[in-house]
Amino acid sequence: MNTSEHFYITTPIYYVNDVPHIGHAYTTIACDIMARYNRLLGRKVFFLTGTDEHGQKVEKAALERGRSPKEHADLLVGNFQDLWKQLDISNDAFIRTTDAQHVAVVQRLLQQLFDAGEIEKRSYCGMYCTPCERFWTEKDLVEGSCPDCARPVDRIEEENYFFLMSKYQEPLVRHIEQTNPDYILPESRKNEVLGFLKSQPLGDLCISRPKARLAWGIPLPFDDRYTTYVWFDALVNYYAADTYLSPTGRPEWWPATHHLIGKDILTTHAVYWSTMLMGLGLELPRNIFAHGWWTVEGKKMSKSVGNVVDPAATAKKYGVDAFRYFLFREVTFGLDGDFSEDALTRRINTDLANDLGNLLSRFTAMAEKYFDGVIGLPGAYAASPDELVVRSYRNGFVVARNHAHWARLRFNDILGGIWEIIAAGNNYIAQTEPWKLAKTDPAHLKNVLFNLWNGLRIASMLLYPFMPATAEKIWRQIGLQELLPETASAGDSIWTAGSWMPEYTVRTRKGDQLFPRIEKPAGEMKIKQKREAKESEAMPEAPAPGLIRMDDFAKVVLKVGKIVQAERVEKSNKLIKLQVDTGEERQIVAGIGKAYAPEDLVGKKIVVVANLEPAKLMGVESNGMLLAATDEEGRLSVLILDRDEITQGARVK
Ligand code: ME8
Repeated sequence: MNTSEHFYITTPIYYVNDVPHIGHAYTTIACDIMARYNRLLGRKVFFLTGTDEHGQKVEKAALERGRSPKEHADLLVGNFQDLWKQLDISNDAFIRTTDAQHVAVVQRLLQQLFDAGEIEKRSYCGMYCTPCERFWTEKDLVEGSCPDCARPVDRIEEENYFFLMSKYQEPLVRHIEQTNPDYILPESRKNEVLGFLKSQPLGDLCISRPKARLAWGIPLPFDDRYTTYVWFDALVNYYAADTYLSPTGRPEWWPATHHLIGKDILTTHAVYWSTMLMGLGLELPRNIFAHGWWTVEGKKMSKSVGNVVDPAATAKKYGVDAFRYFLFREVTFGLDGDFSEDALTRRINTDLANDLGNLLSRFTAMAEKYFDGVIGLPGAYAASPDELVVRSYRNGFVVARNHAHWARLRFNDILGGIWEIIAAGNNYIAQTEPWKLAKTDPAHLKNVLFNLWNGLRIASMLLYPFMPATAEKIWRQIGLQELLPETASAGDSIWTAGSWMPEYTVRTRKGDQLFPRIEKPAGEMKIKQKREAKESEAMPEAPAPGLIRMDDFAKVVLKVGKIVQAERVEKSNKLIKLQVDTGEERQIVAGIGKAYAPEDLVGKKIVVVANLEPAKLMGVESNGMLLAATDEEGRLSVLILDRDEITQGARVK
């Protein structure tokens, strides 16, 4: 059963062959964000993670350390469980594939497929990659090696059991292409799977390993000389958990709303798992979302290079919430990204210390100074810029709560909406100059402080899924008691940008700075001593005429976009219609047709104003604007990036 009020989300189950890395943390935090948000909406949520404990990788890792595979798994599983506690992961259940109940479900489903004639024994000869635990055909190989990991493969000939996957090729294509267009996201990954399915006949799936070659696995119920292929065993976890780990004690979650995975395990999920479910007559998950991979300072992350990012150490050094925020702000979820301590430090100093931290400390300092921390409903004071700030809150709120953004896991856009609210608050202080109002217009000052309070309230609520501890700290500093109960009891009105007040008097409580600035990145990083924000810092003068503040500039969202398609707009010699990938695909109409031919533009990386109101040019919709220079002679040049390695969607600032 799965109603729209039920939300079931899963991470991959991680191999216990080694300690967790940034990739494990990435998927798990993404699930946590989705789980927390859906709980806030009042949905029933089941968030599952766990460990993949059978198979050759784990057996090999255990042998190398002189342990039995189960002893090894029992030791290593703690690393994952501890990390999830440290990173504030709110999973409802944790599955281990060595759980007796999981083993029983795998065997039951295998028997069901076998009895239905969906599994057949055959003699088989194939190229086997031990690290990936996968068979390949000769023509799959790339220069004689595994197409996934580039390591050597072995030719293996043996009798094995096969799941008759090939017969589901057509139904699967239909499912992905016609009936469930959002089955695989992002779009580029869906196209990848469709390309694979349409370019060659789908083979059958070898689901057994002779015990002599691999003892560490679940015995086949119909032939105990064989163990179950580790991927068959692992994928079943998503369904098995609902039979014995459901918090309510009864199965009620399948099918999953989202399976979140990394891009390297897309085929196993989109093809193997989907066809297994078809064979079993079970519903397919609603969505499989494959995210990109992190490189580290431009290099592939690998143990041999020694650049594997340890999430526990990073979160300890920079803070759990800063780490959580960085992962989802720095890169559009779905695309590859690059991690560096410098980039993390920049995000902490600008977005978290400057924008968010300052807004809170300036607000609480003023609330205490002018009203002893007591905030009340404002009087009728609607003059600009008070109206403007409320409008900006509303705009940011609408973006951050956009259902389509959440359904498609567009975390970066959602955070963009929240930062619109924060920037609006900071601008509002600059425009209204409360320290002057304190002398001239106390009624207006009360209004300003209420509006600032309200912005922080809304922003902290929206931030909660991303940075739960920070949201609660803000919540307390602005005088609200508890985030979740109050949210739930106030229902939807709590989200509105109007004039919601709790039923008790709000008294602010200035606390520690949320995010002290970091002076030096990496190595000799020093966190500045905590100190009270000085009044001069808290209340800067307005900028000189003709100049703008960083806050003003930050309102313009500039992004790198890759031109995917270009064609002239009919009956216009000036306008070109472009399809641009800025992390999401958008159409832009640009007046560059006299200076450029469409075919010269395709593949170029340009700079796009990404938060411009949509407009129509000669009846064609344009979502954004590209940057170009024109000189006095009327010559025009589009700004094109001189480095192709910058990924589309990257912010320009
Ligand atoms: O694959 N950046 O387990 P695993 C981002 N047991 N993500 C990365 C990454 C990187 N540099 N490197 C790896 C398994 N990942 C199976 C899953 S599910 C039924 C069975 C991601 O411990 C990778 O994409 O190897 C994958 O999602 C996870 O980390 C690795 O999991």
